[in-house]
Amino acid sequence: MSDNGRSRIPSSEEVSLALRRCWQPVARLQDLEHGPQRAVLLGEALAVFLTESGEPAVVADRCAHRGASLSMGEVRGESLQCPYHGWEWAGRDGACTRIPSLSDQAQIPPGARIPAFPVRKQWGMVWTVLEEPLTGLPSLPWFDAEEWTWGHGAPFELPVSFGVMIENFRDVAHFAFVHQATMGAMPEVVEPLEPERDGFEVTLHRMMRTGEGAEEVWGSTREVRYHLIAPNLTAVQMFTTGAERCLVHVARAIGPTESAHYWVSGFTEDFDECSLEESIEAEARIYAEDLPIISAVEPRELSLHPGSELNTLADRFTLAYREAFTEFVSRALETRSAQPR
Ligand code: FES
Ligand SMILES: [Fe+2]
Repeated sequence: MSDNGRSRIPSSEEVSLALRRCWQPVARLQDLEHGPQRAVLLGEALAVFLTESGEPAVVADRCAHRGASLSMGEVRGESLQCPYHGWEWAGRDGACTRIPSLSDQAQIPPGARIPAFPVRKQWGMVWTVLEEPLTGLPSLPWFDAEEWTWGHGAPFELPVSFGVMIENFRDVAHFAFVHQATMGAMPEVVEPLEPERDGFEVTLHRMMRTGEGAEEVWGSTREVRYHLIAPNLTAVQMFTTGAERCLVHVARAIGPTESAHYWVSGFTEDFDECSLEESIEAEARIYAEDLPIISAVEPRELSLHPGSELNTLADRFTLAYREAFTEFVSRALETRSAQPR
């Protein structure tokens, strides 16, 4: 995939194959307390649930008996019971553990099993990956989930690839146009941006120049640091007077042109400008301004070809993200040929 160290532009199919090696969020833990959930990851329907011992599990959302949707079923011990004929499937490895219609459970067909996927918990979410992961879970060393106060906003879905939304999150040139109602009159002119890319990570340090009426959203924030980890995480660390706030956004590819988004708002112990609920509510209003614009963007997939769209100096961070994204895809594909399907 690499040619003299430069990554060539991947096709849509190549992007989808590469993302099979990316950890992606499939549910919030708080939602699983009410029962199993269905999540589609790169076209694969998954059933996500918490076993009775509280361990998260991800299996195919398709019963191997007659194809019922397992996410409509119920948790039984460490297994998920199919809603159709009650067969039970282990969360750990997808093995069939019980067939109620058999008087002798020794008659369970040998090898009766559905696909089960690796599972991790982080930031109140369950994450999974469809093939051998290229990297570990994304980590943000500055965001100490044990120490900070944080909580989730309402997840949402978009009819565009997740990259389109990741770009919006840290695109500072749209504030003056999309966010006047929440951020006040922001300056239109963007100073020369100097993003720094290190492999899949891109950071950008910026002094905030807010306009009239921006205090409600920005409070005493005067400095921000954007931290992006390609392909599917973007975050902003906000430095206020004597404290820090953050917004962490992670996304899942439902398919090439559909995506699911989860976000966490938080702050350090010394932050006293608003409550967690108020902080989440303020971020939700900002997202609500973005979503109609982003939902109507064309093309619905991220444009990775440098010449396919017009760019200016204010788009340097966007271009750095696209380079990091392309590098992820290249590296994932380079080492994928030996992967089992
Ligand atoms: S379809 Fe699942 S038990 Fe029959
Ligand atoms: Fe925005």
